[in-house]
Amino acid sequence: MTAELVPQIAPQLGSGQMFDRIARRYDLVNRVLSLGLDQRWRRRTVRAVGVGLGEQPRILDVATGTGDLAIALATAFPGGTVIGLDPSPGMLAIAAQKVARRDLRARVELLEGDAQALPQASCSIDAATIAFGIRNVPDRPLALRELARVVRPGGRIGVLELSEPRPGVLAAAARFHTHHLVPRIGALLSGKREYAYLQKSVAAFPPANEFADVMRGAGLTVLEIVPLTFGACTLFVATPTEEV
Ligand SMILES: C[S@@+](CC[C@H](N)C(=O)[O-])C[C@H]1O[C@@H](n2cnc3c(N)ncnc32)[C@H](O)[C@@H]1O
Repeated sequence: MTAELVPQIAPQLGSGQMFDRIARRYDLVNRVLSLGLDQRWRRRTVRAVGVGLGEQPRILDVATGTGDLAIALATAFPGGTVIGLDPSPGMLAIAAQKVARRDLRARVELLEGDAQALPQASCSIDAATIAFGIRNVPDRPLALRELARVVRPGGRIGVLELSEPRPGVLAAAARFHTHHLVPRIGALLSGKREYAYLQKSVAAFPPANEFADVMRGAGLTVLEIVPLTFGACTLFVATPTEEV
């Protein structure tokens, strides 16, 4: 539904480079296309991973992009530190400006990196998130295994991703929005053809139950699957599966 989730439009470019091309207008296009719902979905994610966090949690936001979720996490958990990781220097540059404007530099660290090879030590993170990012990762099971590795036992992982709206009248409106409005308005606002590919990538993402199975196969116990806004977006809440 939101424009953020620009898919594999340009396979010849790394996805970091691809996002560099749209970084400047990314936030504006997102807000307009999601009708502001993207921030609400991120806040829901923050609540879901916040369960059982201590006073000074260490939180990782993978595919942080322009940093909205990293900032929401740092704001919600004032004793905590947040690492925002992304391969796109262009997106991270916008994130850095936003972090500085909010005076969060001491608690939000921005790192260039790939979800498939996280630099964090095993079990070193109290909670992790990835919003509208997993779809862009070439090897999703590997990225999920990395999340399962770095998060400590009992820590929560929130995966937020766009999905095909469920059947029904309101869902028909949501589908029209995703399939027809998003590519056109995205292209208009950003001047970039990348947004035309959004709808294709949403359709290509597996249904929630199938994706949950991929998570399980990657060493995660799925605690909750939460459809948001008539299923236009889905939040998966998980924790590393404990060996017995
Ligand atoms: C649609 S944006 C989402 C940004 C942010 N999480 C948000 O909520 O707006 C997708 C992000 O995934 C990043 N990305 C692409 N491939 C990645 C990878 N292999 N590992 C980590 N992040 C990746 C892109 O650079 C981009 O910033």
